[in-house]
Amino acid sequence: MLDQSNITIDVHLDNQDPKAVRDEIRAGLLSTPRRLPTKYFYDDRGSALFEQICTLPEYYPTRTEHQLLKTVADDVIARTRAEELVELGSGAATKTRVLLDAMARTNRLRSYVPFDFSESIVRRVAHELVEEYEGLRVHGVVGDFLAHLEHIPRGGRRLVVFLGGTIGNLEPAAAATFLSSVADEMDRGDFFLLGVQLITDVDRLEAAYNDSAGLSAAFNKNMLSVLKVVIGAEFDPDHFDHVARFNQDELQIEMHLRSVCRQVIPIPELELTLRLEEGEEILTEISRKFTRHHVEAMLTRAGFTPLGWYTDPAHLHGLALAQKPSG
Ligand code: SAH
Ligand code: AVI
Repeated sequence: MLDQSNITIDVHLDNQDPKAVRDEIRAGLLSTPRRLPTKYFYDDRGSALFEQICTLPEYYPTRTEHQLLKTVADDVIARTRAEELVELGSGAATKTRVLLDAMARTNRLRSYVPFDFSESIVRRVAHELVEEYEGLRVHGVVGDFLAHLEHIPRGGRRLVVFLGGTIGNLEPAAAATFLSSVADEMDRGDFFLLGVQLITDVDRLEAAYNDSAGLSAAFNKNMLSVLKVVIGAEFDPDHFDHVARFNQDELQIEMHLRSVCRQVIPIPELELTLRLEEGEEILTEISRKFTRHHVEAMLTRAGFTPLGWYTDPAHLHGLALAQKPSG
């Protein structure tokens, strides 16, 4: 029986300034290289496509992290003695169950705080989890983790997690600011678990973003449909190709939408007529790949004390455990 009293959902996305939204998209389209904000991947369809990508044979990060969590969850929970799990960019929270199970085994599981842009996914996960874990309280937060971290509710002994390698979707400066903000919002002594994708061979990396089922392409092009809703722009998805390649200098996958023809796209809401040449690319996402050294340096700079490092046998994925110092 579903106990609604165990669920609270706070929504912080209603007060987005339309001018700021327009200015951000316009500035990106006019920059060199042209770019679009990665966050516009994740409407309901984009979130569903990402869930499907996670099951593809080529997209190894999800299953690798899932398996790694199964191996290390008991150790993480024994070290942190966490009562509350806070998850940033929680998405479908599939792998989260591994940590919740480990917390339940120690009889310490009290509450879960999923924090995501997507209201529908936060609501779905909240309902699923209160059914799956007896007595669990779920306090969902629908917001932007780059802007609304102060709305994370205060809890008991907390473990904050940011999984999947989503940190890699942030530019270095944004990632540093984000990690410092996470540390600022945590209480002294709280723990942080960060999942990162590691540097591996280029063929494997590029295949993960160029799957044969075409889901990465559909995910990339879905941003064009989101922009129709957000700024009324009439992009034709058939006029763009999906392109994803590894940049060896920046150690990141870069995903682009490449114009297949010369095209003129009027966007009245932005007071802009976008003129694209055949072959011109718009950057829609970076996905950075890391080393242990790099990750621990980022965490230390943000004010955390690195405590542990876990990786799979093939060194494809890393989980860094850190703590906000207590004194
Ligand atoms: N943690 C899950 C999902 C990763 S997909 C996993 O490891 O599989 C990235 C998730 O982060 C999506 O659910 C997306 O909606 C969310 N997201 C991306 N940018 C965000 C932002 N700025 N604020 C809040 N959520 C964001
Ligand atoms: C959410 N994030 C970690 C994914 C990644 O691998 O960078 C998003 C993604 N983009 C294309 N495929 C998956």
